[in-house]
Amino acid sequence: MDKLIINGQKKLFGEVSISGAKNAAVAVLPAAIMADDICIIDNLPSIEDITSLFNTFEKMGIKCEFLDKHTLKIDSRNLENVSATYDEVKKIRASYYLLGALLGRFKKAEVSMPGGCNFGSRPIDLHLKGFKALGAEVTVTEDAVKLSAEKLTGATIYMDQVSVGATINVMLAACLAEGTTIIENAAKEPHVVDTANFLNIMGANIKGAGTDVIRITGVEKLHGAEYTIIPDQIEAGTYMIAAAITGGDVVVKNIIPKHMDSLSAKLDEMNVTIEEGDDSIRVISDKPLKNVNVKTMSYPGFPTDLQPQMAALLTVCMGENIITENVWDNRYQYVDQLKKLGADVSIDGRIAKIQGVKKLTGNSVSATDLRAGAAMIIAGLAAEGVTEISNVKYIDRGYEDVEHKFKSLGADIKRVKVD
Ligand code: EPZ
Repeated sequence: MDKLIINGQKKLFGEVSISGAKNAAVAVLPAAIMADDICIIDNLPSIEDITSLFNTFEKMGIKCEFLDKHTLKIDSRNLENVSATYDEVKKIRASYYLLGALLGRFKKAEVSMPGGCNFGSRPIDLHLKGFKALGAEVTVTEDAVKLSAEKLTGATIYMDQVSVGATINVMLAACLAEGTTIIENAAKEPHVVDTANFLNIMGANIKGAGTDVIRITGVEKLHGAEYTIIPDQIEAGTYMIAAAITGGDVVVKNIIPKHMDSLSAKLDEMNVTIEEGDDSIRVISDKPLKNVNVKTMSYPGFPTDLQPQMAALLTVCMGENIITENVWDNRYQYVDQLKKLGADVSIDGRIAKIQGVKKLTGNSVSATDLRAGAAMIIAGLAAEGVTEISNVKYIDRGYEDVEHKFKSLGADIKRVKVD
């Protein structure tokens, strides 16, 4: 279990290049196995979740080869295996996309129940509702989901709640159903659009991705394709917030600025200067930070995956700051760790009230999940003295070369290997 050691209060300066989007990559890779063909996916982030999917594909008998650190060649010709019940599968939540991909291609699937970050209940009832609507028989055992269908027939599916996973999963299976599927109240996240764009290059017929109504007209089969993953909105936001809390001046590059609008607007409200380029955003934090309120919503609202990182920033914004977490029912487990650094936070259900403090003080803290770990880095960068972050494996799930990227911006940060 590695640890990160941060000696805080160093302003961040310079440029940081953002990697491919984790939440797009973990959907595009399962989509790639729907073609009885070869796909080449570029700009993959070099992170643990991709390694987990690579290992799962290998065990399924899919030939995978990294052409370079960020480019994977996937040969799913002659794939016959319709089950993925390996330990690897349980490591990441996005394994559930194998259900939609295998059901679409083979009309059968058996996948272990998904793992992933443990903040509150993470049901998949909307995924299963969608598969049933397409004509699949669904069997849920203790540790696996089994699907089978004589054939898949297009249907109109209303998502009771906006769900990224359910939207993408139903879209996968519907691509190879007979007739038209309409997903209403669909998620509009950039990674939903990225997956739809990739499927269309493979020969699918998907319209409306990025709006709340997606129309999929089923096709006979999909063919191989080459594709480049979009930049990671959440990694980019993490570095923008780190620049803000350290009073730095950082250019976050290789991004799509439009994807950052909700965070850019909030930082602007806090007196942080935001300068947008074509594929970059410069963050200049040279004025006292103004206290604000944040409400997480599905895209284009403020992303829940930047909620912990924003909470870390707000711990040093004088006055009262209120966060309302509208997506997950229990995403404040990291708050106890922030309090160990001197933060003044009180939780009431979905509401976090944060009273700004003059400074944080270094301490030993633990990453309770992926984005909580990112929040500990952000708080540690601002804290006086040394902060030691354990459970860095969570951070490695979603952040490529995290200590090197922060070190290149002037942070005093190092990784310590712990047996
Ligand atoms: C995706 O999770 C992301 N993960 C999460 O990011 C992100 O927090 C979430 O979307 C919201 O943006 C990946 O893309 C791999 P949802 P997902 O289905 O698809 C409820 C990260 O840090 N719901 O949009 O699992 C659910 O409980 C991770 O990168 C149901 O009730 O999230 C939640 O309250 C953490 N039934 C809400 O919908 C369902 O069948 C949104 O969940 C599905 C979801």
